[in-house]
Amino acid sequence: MTPTTTKTRRPLATPPIAASPFPYNPGSLLSVYDLTLEALSYLLARATALENQDPLTRARILAKRRIALLFYESSTRTRTSFELAAKGLGADTTLVSDKSSSIEKGESLKDTGLTLRALGAEAIIIRHPSSGAAWQLEAETRLPVLNAGDGMHEHPTQALLDLRTILAHLRPGIEEITAETLSGVTVSITGDILHSRVARSNMLLLPRLGARVILCGPPTLLPEVAAQAGPGIEIVRDFEAALRQSQVVMMLRIQAERVVGLQLDLDEYKAAYQLTGQRLAAFAPTAVILHPGPIIRGLELTAGVADGPQSAILEQVRNGVAIRMAVVERALATDQGGRA
Ligand code: CP
Repeated sequence: MTPTTTKTRRPLATPPIAASPFPYNPGSLLSVYDLTLEALSYLLARATALENQDPLTRARILAKRRIALLFYESSTRTRTSFELAAKGLGADTTLVSDKSSSIEKGESLKDTGLTLRALGAEAIIIRHPSSGAAWQLEAETRLPVLNAGDGMHEHPTQALLDLRTILAHLRPGIEEITAETLSGVTVSITGDILHSRVARSNMLLLPRLGARVILCGPPTLLPEVAAQAGPGIEIVRDFEAALRQSQVVMMLRIQAERVVGLQLDLDEYKAAYQLTGQRLAAFAPTAVILHPGPIIRGLELTAGVADGPQSAILEQVRNGVAIRMAVVERALATDQGGRA
């Protein structure tokens, strides 16, 4: 009898160069860098579909699946929207916070993650003050891990909800994300770039879609080296010159919790970088104003700007739920549509 068609793979002469093993789990979202343009299109389309779906039907998608929220840092928007997103899909959620768990007694990230997995968590959403913590947790547990902000590194779902907000204003109705989707769009990011994971994720994402990204702030909060972060990124120190070129103006707060020994005169800072109604009217009268929150009224922007007609800050918050539904669904879906 002739042998059947079982194929044997010839050994490679030399082993392939090891690529990064991350993410181990195809459902994870550790960095915006992990997402192809197809995956971005897929997530944005799913966010809209899930947002428009009948809530009772939607609640069957992840009915009784178990998701842990592991938060080592404070959060209002990210934590609440992830929780509402997971519950909106029918999942059971549990919150573990560093303030009220055995983390306070010294339990490590690894042991906390393994404990949550042993308790039945099928995915973990983590916020942590250390850059890279989400990667470590994924490596230890091999569960789908969603990065809800790791130190000064990345905040991928924030960048996705920012993108959804920008598209709604500048490219309404767009269905497919390409390398030209944001051609001709300048996004300025002003403030504490040094400590901002939101800035980092947006700097990794927006130029891939054709946007020009201007970084603006004083050297203490924006070192010159930031301009080398990638193509499509430049530094403009003069805030009014940055505003004049921007269709999207993203303001950031000064992260007092990460600033140690920083010499910064707040009156000088406000004089140079505060977004006021006068500056907006003079230099960016049609720009969309974004801010990841929390906003500090009277510091990086005035109350009038925060509450004004150009502000899309609360739209960003609302978009957080839709985007996180899509990301949570993808984390636990067997069909990883759009992943490449
Ligand atoms: N944008 C953001 O991460 O806000 P929270 O810290 O409130 O989650």
